[in-house]
Amino acid sequence: MTGSNLDDCSSCKACELASTRQSVVISRGNPNANLMLIGEAPGAQEDAQGVPFVGRSGRALDQLLRDVDLDPEHDLYICNAIKCRPPNNRRPIKAELAACRSWLDLQLEAVDPKVIVLTGATAVEAILGIKGGMTQLRGQWQSWNERAVMPIFHPSYLLRNPSKAAGAPLDLTRRDLATVQQRLCEPCSASN
Ligand code: URA
Repeated sequence: MTGSNLDDCSSCKACELASTRQSVVISRGNPNANLMLIGEAPGAQEDAQGVPFVGRSGRALDQLLRDVDLDPEHDLYICNAIKCRPPNNRRPIKAELAACRSWLDLQLEAVDPKVIVLTGATAVEAILGIKGGMTQLRGQWQSWNERAVMPIFHPSYLLRNPSKAAGAPLDLTRRDLATVQQRLCEPCSASN
């Protein structure tokens, strides 16, 4: 166990990334939300500001969330599978994911989300243990510890595939997030 209190995360030195990071990037958004979104790892902007998803990918993500009536600051809690930037934005290695896992588990325990969105293959592998195959997995509800889990494409993939055509990755991701938004609203419509 790396730590037992999320407050200790900012001083974590459990892996090599501690020596190259500027910031430990923990979360943004609402810790009381029913929805938690997990990405891969901080990039350069996130490392500089100490906040997840604030660079180009983050702006693309926020726009998609707003498109489906989800407020990025109030309707969800946003974090990453690992909290420190890998040099040159390479994919996190297994040892880094393992070293950081207890922080992610503390976040999951504290937020206790009903629904989890996993953006990209790293988050999918970290939580569901499924490798690759995002094209098949995205948009398909999964389950983890009795929580509904929705894998979606990573916003950096969407930036590389900007087509606005129906059925293109951007459109599919908007539909996946709309499905998530509807699921979050199910209890409200059931009680009306
Ligand atoms: N990509 C991620 O997966 N997370 C961030 O915080 C930024 C970019």
